[in-house]
Amino acid sequence: MTKLIAALDTTSVKQAATWAAAVKPSAAIVKIGMEFFYSHGSKGYKEIQKTKTPIFLDLKLHDIPNTVAGAVKALLPLKPKMLTLHTAGGQAMMQAAAEQAKGSSTLLLGVTILTSLDQQGIAQIGFSQSLESHVLRLAELAHNAGLHGIVCSTHELTAIKTRFKNDLITVVPGIRPEGSAKGDQSRTMTPTEAKQRGADYIVVGRPITEAANPAQAAKKISGELAVHR
Ligand code: C5P
Repeated sequence: MTKLIAALDTTSVKQAATWAAAVKPSAAIVKIGMEFFYSHGSKGYKEIQKTKTPIFLDLKLHDIPNTVAGAVKALLPLKPKMLTLHTAGGQAMMQAAAEQAKGSSTLLLGVTILTSLDQQGIAQIGFSQSLESHVLRLAELAHNAGLHGIVCSTHELTAIKTRFKNDLITVVPGIRPEGSAKGDQSRTMTPTEAKQRGADYIVVGRPITEAANPAQAAKKISGELAVHR
């Protein structure tokens, strides 16, 4: 069963809380990220928590192991359902984070290659292999380090699921329902395509938050996910 995560990318507490309440019937989790957390910190986070929807804190931590473990320690009291770190920080960094999160209910997810990057984009930063082989390598590190899952694009899902079965939760952004604008995302797929490839969660932001009726847009996507194929 593929579940919906609604990404609430805003700096307004009021707006995020309104969206969280609107998508609650359709989204399993709401995601807040850097722009919100850097603006309002744990105080703003707690306002969203009041809507009683599980929260994915997408902070994409990336630093030396000691610093990332310290950040995880500081964030765990907020009890996020999910927390992200960059797999490119390396296995030791991820291990330190996993060690810190042991025994908590927070799922640690490793971000592999951002869905805004395509083959040309990764070539520019010096990665010469295919996107898929990079994602598989980073997923392997995340798995070895004891993370619960990864963030990847739908394009690598089949390879990831074949290699890791259900050992790694897959969270997939870059989702665009039929007919919606791509924005800065390069490697997009529809909710149905992501479901067919076995995504555990899809992350959808602007197609919901920029819709005339966000509640309706979220409902339509969760309806699409619920259709048996
Ligand atoms: O608006 P849109 O649907 O493109 O939002 C996607 C969300 O997923 C954003 O919050 C973005 O930060 C996040 N994300 C992503 N690609 C990743 C990891 C997270 O787009 N690899």
